[in-house]
Amino acid sequence: MKLLITNIKTLLQIRDRHIEKVSGTDMNILPTIENAYLLIENDRIIDYGFMGDHINIKADKTIDATGKLVLPTWCDSHSHIVYAGSRAQEFVDRINGLSYEEIANRGGGILNSAKTLENTSESDLFEQSIKRVNEVIKMGTGALEIKSGYGLSLESELKMLRVIKRIKAHVPIEIKATFLGAHALPEKFKNNKEAYIDHVINDMLPLVAKEDLADYIDVFCEKGYFSLDDMQRILVAGKEYGLPAKVHVNQFNAFGGVSLAVKYNALSVDHLEELNDDDLEALQGSKTMPVALPSCSYFLSIPYTPARRIMDSGLPLALATDYNPGSTPSGNMNFVVSTACIKMKMTPEEAINAATINAAYAMGSSKDYGSITTGKKANLIITKEVPNYNHLPYAFGDNHIEQVIINGKVI
Ligand code: NIG
Ligand code: FE
Repeated sequence: MKLLITNIKTLLQIRDRHIEKVSGTDMNILPTIENAYLLIENDRIIDYGFMGDHINIKADKTIDATGKLVLPTWCDSHSHIVYAGSRAQEFVDRINGLSYEEIANRGGGILNSAKTLENTSESDLFEQSIKRVNEVIKMGTGALEIKSGYGLSLESELKMLRVIKRIKAHVPIEIKATFLGAHALPEKFKNNKEAYIDHVINDMLPLVAKEDLADYIDVFCEKGYFSLDDMQRILVAGKEYGLPAKVHVNQFNAFGGVSLAVKYNALSVDHLEELNDDDLEALQGSKTMPVALPSCSYFLSIPYTPARRIMDSGLPLALATDYNPGSTPSGNMNFVVSTACIKMKMTPEEAINAATINAAYAMGSSKDYGSITTGKKANLIITKEVPNYNHLPYAFGDNHIEQVIINGKVI
């Protein structure tokens, strides 16, 4: 089956040769072809170029993209999309003056979601979650990382990870699973954090590995949650089971989490709303991708990750949603890209690079996703008619997407 897209106004994010990521000033370069075609065979991109050169291409189906842009689907490398219920009441409590921290301290927050999830059956959790996954696919997400971490008990963490596995079998997009047993201290272990970490390492992790339920390991390294020592124990244990790290660090406080994560070769360090010079220094020359989550900053009214400082020091940067019921009840990568431009002073080129090629790297998926490259998966966004790609982040809140193609098929 061959699908040909013709008369594309601009084809974005062309990488003739496979590259893993873009850094520093290179992030401001977004290679494009004006008046382009793109040819797909089955689920792969097999050719692309100038319209003038495509004279003899035969295909089973043709889509005319006159006036429209074509780009790779977004990669969302950080989500907690598997959850039960909602935390809309906490949202209202925050409007009425309580802080995220105060809500967490009185049993709300992550523990609130864990309680709801405990009382939700695996099949109900699956139904609630896959609905959200299908929604984000329609919004152009073609690769998605999903974390556990609202279980906080052996049974419930496994329930979450099995749901992620089921989602993976039911949707056509790339799904990566991350084990986040150390997301918060459950009530039962309130006065014994060491025992909970022992439980995560000695009881949960071996079963997660045995059932092959995770690709990565995560920990919420933050004051009041897990310390540097805790993170170290968890990353060492994860490594023994072959799980590279993708970690929550520097959301509210910067105290060395970034350099520790880099020391353990973390694939990504996520949040970074607080960032000091030592953190930037630690990232230099490393393989660790910094990941910003602007929708979280927006929703919680906390600082935005200093994207300019990161990129201006020569580093790469990726963007993700953080979709979760407490700090970011939104999985819209289009909003993330707009917000990165509007609030973090990223150029459209930088934001699109951060949400495609670099985001694919941050979830270990750049071999097949994140750019228009021959041989990569045909996961594409076809926009409505727009003047140019600046219009995508500029006209924020509009739905610019006309069609989403996943594995060569129109969704
Ligand atoms: O990435 N920071 C830790 N975890 C999530 C939020 C968790 C929650 O409030 O449910 C985050 O923002
Ligand atoms: Fe998160």
